[in-house]
Amino acid sequence: MKLFLDTANISEIRAANAAGLINGVTTNPSLLAKEKLPIKETIIEICELVDGPISAEVLNISTTESIIAEAEDIAKWHRNIIVKIPCTLAGIAAAKILESRGIQTNITLVFSANQVLLAAKANASFISPFVGRLDDVGENGLLMIANSLEIIRKHNFKSQIIVASVRSPLTVVQAAQLGAHVATVPYKILEQMIKHPLTDAGIKKFEEDWKNARL
Ligand code: E4P
Repeated sequence: MKLFLDTANISEIRAANAAGLINGVTTNPSLLAKEKLPIKETIIEICELVDGPISAEVLNISTTESIIAEAEDIAKWHRNIIVKIPCTLAGIAAAKILESRGIQTNITLVFSANQVLLAAKANASFISPFVGRLDDVGENGLLMIANSLEIIRKHNFKSQIIVASVRSPLTVVQAAQLGAHVATVPYKILEQMIKHPLTDAGIKKFEEDWKNARL
């Protein structure tokens, strides 16, 4: 399973990338707004840092034509860009045309297996179901991922499922167990994934024992 970093923060991307841990980055308008930096320049900087799929979202989503026009512009910024498009009828129609023109898409704000099926039928390269936001409203995000993966595999769709809106390290393990193609995680989750109190205690004990043995 590939790991993407779900952030627009350059320091976080540098740190995760230096550890060789990430295969791509997902951004969204909220994550970019948090950084208070020019959007285009930030996305290009991320693309230069990480040589993998970098999702950048369209904002002119009123019609298929407006989505295509913005997506074609964004795609020219860098060869690593994947255009992120919200899951609407106009968005699905735009994704199908963009993919046929060689522009890779990531259908986002996906909350049901039906939406996954339609995005897959549009040949979207990536589809991003949001696990955490579903769990927040009392639904079962992981179950939706399992159903979605079953559909993708049974029908040999080319789309890769990105498990998004990840709120805990356990979700990453579960996504991997289900055979998801990608999980996109905030930097904090990446830090939590490597941490274990017994590892820290073990290191401390080894250091103490080694020091005492040499006295
Ligand atoms: C994914 O592409 C989204 O950027 C992200 O995972 C949304 O996560 P959130 O629900 O924590 O905002």
